[in-house]
Amino acid sequence: FTVTWSAEAAEKGGYPHFMIKEIMEQPQALRDTLRGRIQGGRVEFSDVDLDCCLDGVEKVFIVACGTAYHAGVVGKHVIERLACLPVEVDIASEFRYRDVLWGDKSLLIVISQSGETADTLAALREAKKKGIRVLAVTNVVGSSVAREADRVIYTWAGPEIAVASTKAYSTQLLVMYLLGLYLAQKRGTLPEEVIASTVRELRGIADKVEAILEKAGAVEAIAEKYAATASTFFIGRGLDYAVALEGALKLKEISYVHAEAYAAGELKHGTLALIEKGVPVIAIVTQDELQDKMISNIKEVKARGAEVIGIAKEGLAGIEEETDELFVIPGEDSLLTPMLTVVPLQLFAYYMAVKRGCDVDKPRNLAKSVTVE
Ligand code: AGP
Repeated sequence: FTVTWSAEAAEKGGYPHFMIKEIMEQPQALRDTLRGRIQGGRVEFSDVDLDCCLDGVEKVFIVACGTAYHAGVVGKHVIERLACLPVEVDIASEFRYRDVLWGDKSLLIVISQSGETADTLAALREAKKKGIRVLAVTNVVGSSVAREADRVIYTWAGPEIAVASTKAYSTQLLVMYLLGLYLAQKRGTLPEEVIASTVRELRGIADKVEAILEKAGAVEAIAEKYAATASTFFIGRGLDYAVALEGALKLKEISYVHAEAYAAGELKHGTLALIEKGVPVIAIVTQDELQDKMISNIKEVKARGAEVIGIAKEGLAGIEEETDELFVIPGEDSLLTPMLTVVPLQLFAYYMAVKRGCDVDKPRNLAKSVTVE
């Protein structure tokens, strides 16, 4: 027999779509983004001198769009917790029209996979006009954002072709952790041993993502069960809510299923009215101190007939009997779980889109990089 290996198939590395190829490339992308940035038990950016941007910073603004914005929401939690620095995160198209109260010791961090997003670039230029230091996190060497920022931290995810961002997002998260630890080292906000143990966890994160990817079939089975749904909710608290934002966008943009991310504590302030029999609710539960509250939120939606798909950290007592489907991720310092919980959500969106016959890599109405406002 002859194997016809089309150019496009070769381009996709034998995968049916770029998106699944890029989801599967995440362990390598994380390893490549980590390389040269940890020495022993500390973070040292060997490829960029950040100090001119970071010295004396008293307030951080993180600005981005879409998935990159969702990485910034995780970044806010991480930098505030590790470096005890106030962080404001905003959507670029909103931020650039606000009267921002900068303060002269502010830093703007812009996150952009393409480095060409019009609103993000406009926010960068506004800040530069006001003499604010700008640090860019981007996946494209020589992109506009890379050229116009004062300093750039590259995510080494490799070319991301699918419109729906996956490996760029997870490597953006990794850069947020590295930045948070580096700032903690500079500001002396964490004991050396805490930094060293977090760095050790970061070294192993790619292996944990790999282990999750090996269970992709379990996610596909869940997608099979809910492929016909018209509407879903993603709920979480704290960092889990930040990841819920990304899970909802992934599902929306490639499967065209309505998906809303909601802070679980907000349900009773309105959204609970939308929960009715059969509505799938994806509940992310990894934050130790919020687990009990999340379990009661799960009971809340179950009581209204929801089908609950749990994404939980291993060892969480009582979650099994509260959920209709459960995907367990490896036990982890709950600060680092976003790089893990996002993986089943990416896979869920991918399999839902495939089963609904959608154009996974080129969803309707969307472009890979939004270079217009
Ligand atoms: C992500 O899946 C979307 N394709 C979109 O939200 C994207 O994240 C957004 O347009 C920002 O793009 P950028 O990271 O290239 O700036």
